[in-house]
Amino acid sequence: MRSIALANQKGGVAKTTTTVNLGACLAELGKRVLLIDLDPQANLTSWMGIEQKGLEKSIYNVLLGETKIEEVLKDSKVKGLWLAPSTVELAGAERALANEVGREIILKQKLSHLVGSYDYIFLDCPPSLGLITVNALTAAREVFIPVETKILALNGLVTLVSTINLVKERLNPLLEVTGIIPCMYDGRTNLSREVVEQLRARFGPKVFNTAIRENIRLAECPISGLPIHLYAPGSPGAQDYMNLAKEVIQTEIETHADSRPQE
Ligand SMILES: Nc1ncnc2c1ncn2[C@@H]1O[C@H](COP(=O)(O)OP(=O)(O)O)[C@@H](O)[C@H]1O
Ligand SMILES: [Mg+2]
Repeated sequence: MRSIALANQKGGVAKTTTTVNLGACLAELGKRVLLIDLDPQANLTSWMGIEQKGLEKSIYNVLLGETKIEEVLKDSKVKGLWLAPSTVELAGAERALANEVGREIILKQKLSHLVGSYDYIFLDCPPSLGLITVNALTAAREVFIPVETKILALNGLVTLVSTINLVKERLNPLLEVTGIIPCMYDGRTNLSREVVEQLRARFGPKVFNTAIRENIRLAECPISGLPIHLYAPGSPGAQDYMNLAKEVIQTEIETHADSRPQE
């Protein structure tokens, strides 16, 4: 099982878009995939067609120790794709857990028995480097960083990488950044090409060959409640996420045959 946090403290860089569509493409390719919504904005949850209002329990209650993760899981329109939903309540988690001993490792504990049940667990992080993101970085073995290629983004990445390094040093020695995903790519502009060049200079082969092109169908997709390969089959967004999924599986074979969370 691979456990992968999608992290970037900047909002609107395609963390959630990548979680949904990479996860759905991997499920389409036969993998068992669990998506965990860790953002109080619950964009992942609503994209998966789940209404916050109808939810009795969410990942918030799991973190507070009020319920087990199995109790909150929802299946989806894609075979093999599951969701642990979030609600706006999650915004209160940091405060609710403020006095908890070992509060950074709660999520890791809550997920540890899932080894073997899934091939991939994706953790969709909120746009901050607070307690929830630290929990995700502690629970995961890998980090994928989606990067918006429409702006020069390397400064923000320095902060992110130093947080990841601190978590690695103090909480999760096996954590590695294993994928940089160029998103909202517009090959007609020098800027997009330049950002990808800079990413390759800094992160080398960790930058995926597949860049996710800017695609209006991806921007429309969230309200459909469907992943892109069902909403707009054959669209550039559907093609790119499928190619990314194949690359991710390739790295599984090459280097990460076993990246289960540590016991
Ligand atoms: N490749 C793309 N082309 C066009 N729009 C995109 C693309 N990727 C993401 N978006 C849009 O950009 C916005 C931010 O994406 P989102 O995944 O919610 O970012 P984050 O989770 O990092 O905050 C959303 O409205 C989404 O639909
Ligand atoms: Mg998001």
